[in-house]
Amino acid sequence: MYLIKLGMDYCDQAQRAYIRGDLELALRLYEKAVECFRKAVTYTSDAATRSVLSEKIREIEDTIEKLRAILQGENRDLRPRAARSPRATLPEVSESGVIQKEKVSRGGARPGTREVESDGEFVGLVETFISRANVTWDDIADLSDVKRELMSIIFFSLAIPEKPVKVDVPRRILFFGPPGTGKTMIAMALSNMLSATFFNVPISGVLSKYVGDSPKIISTLFKLARERAPSVVFMDEIEAIAVKRDSDFHQVPGLLQTLLTELDGFGSKNLDKLVLVIAATNKPWVLDEAILSRFDRKVYIPPPDKSARIELFKLHLERRGYELEGITYEELADLTEGYTGRDIANLCRKAILNMLQRANPNIEVVMRSVRNVEELRKAKYRVDRITREDFEKALEEVKPTVSKDDLRRYEEFLKKSILS
Ligand SMILES: Nc1ncnc2c1ncn2[C@@H]1O[C@H](COP(=O)(O)OP(=O)(O)OP(=O)(O)O)[C@@H](O)[C@H]1O
Ligand SMILES: [Mg+2]
Repeated sequence: MYLIKLGMDYCDQAQRAYIRGDLELALRLYEKAVECFRKAVTYTSDAATRSVLSEKIREIEDTIEKLRAILQGENRDLRPRAARSPRATLPEVSESGVIQKEKVSRGGARPGTREVESDGEFVGLVETFISRANVTWDDIADLSDVKRELMSIIFFSLAIPEKPVKVDVPRRILFFGPPGTGKTMIAMALSNMLSATFFNVPISGVLSKYVGDSPKIISTLFKLARERAPSVVFMDEIEAIAVKRDSDFHQVPGLLQTLLTELDGFGSKNLDKLVLVIAATNKPWVLDEAILSRFDRKVYIPPPDKSARIELFKLHLERRGYELEGITYEELADLTEGYTGRDIANLCRKAILNMLQRANPNIEVVMRSVRNVEELRKAKYRVDRITREDFEKALEEVKPTVSKDDLRRYEEFLKKSILS
């Protein structure tokens, strides 16, 4: 029914407004959603639908009440956790906009209540962040300064000094730079080298799904990282949590504070256990000063220069068994000034596909004649050299994703962060 769909759309928009920190808008949208569902109740004669709708109305009204309470008592600044009341837990809204019932809690929180949480409640969720980091340093082209620095951090963290001296090794590292320059790859390679537990924290996902519970999730994350040391906690898109407090974005109440507290306590609690926190951002300039100052090292991961681009092309082509014809690696690097590692990976994929299609023009005929997948698996196709034309066609489609203006901004931030 149209009204139900409209109500769900309002819920969806309200949830997004809440995540952006626009609580007034979220409140208005939830009110509209309730209006739709109420009308829908009066129009439907089906008892089951009426009961589901009434339940939804109750849940949204509960949320509205909480939002009103927050807005009345709130100065929009982040208050200490203890001073926050009531908790800003909202009912979850699924992708389709359907409001779900209480979150399923692990670890023994009382069913039907959001107020009682046991420490273990989010362990199961945080465990799902653990992923296999199977990237090696050799998979990463260039960035030799960054690799060298990170290796030395690990070395001085773990090896024993010949005299009993105290060495302060950075444990909180911020990678900043344009998208697609290898930030995630480096974090993975580092973790892989240490055989560490790699926590790849999907910040936007956590925020959009768990809203008011996200501070608790962050605390659980750090606790688990200590337990499973050596660990690498990789927080991509850190700006989703840690934007400047005076920016247009408002954070989930308490989240930034929790992160700051965890990062503070972190150094002292981990002297004998190796837990590295690596955060990454494409927008370092929007980060809250308090967060920026918590990172002992800020590392710029730039787009590749000419020699790095040559290395990238060789990595994606030569190392995978392809050969060039009528074009050199040097020329390819000249043609791709301003391309990031990801742009070059995409360009190579496209050029390879162009070559394969050119070398195998009869695919459609073959496909029409095969009878099953087994037959297809036995079919052979030609692999030619990749030509200048294959690349020219690919270059028409794959353009650099980072502009010169963007690059200037990163360089300015770099200068500022060196000076500060
Ligand atoms: N230095 C590099 N060496 C090899 N491949 C690279 C390099 N940089 C980028 N790439 C390619 O680009 C892809 C994206 O890299 P990665 O995910 O590490 O980028 P990122 O900096 O984390 O991007 P984002 O900021 O969007 O998260 C990789 O899968 C790889 O194919
Ligand atoms: Mg990344």
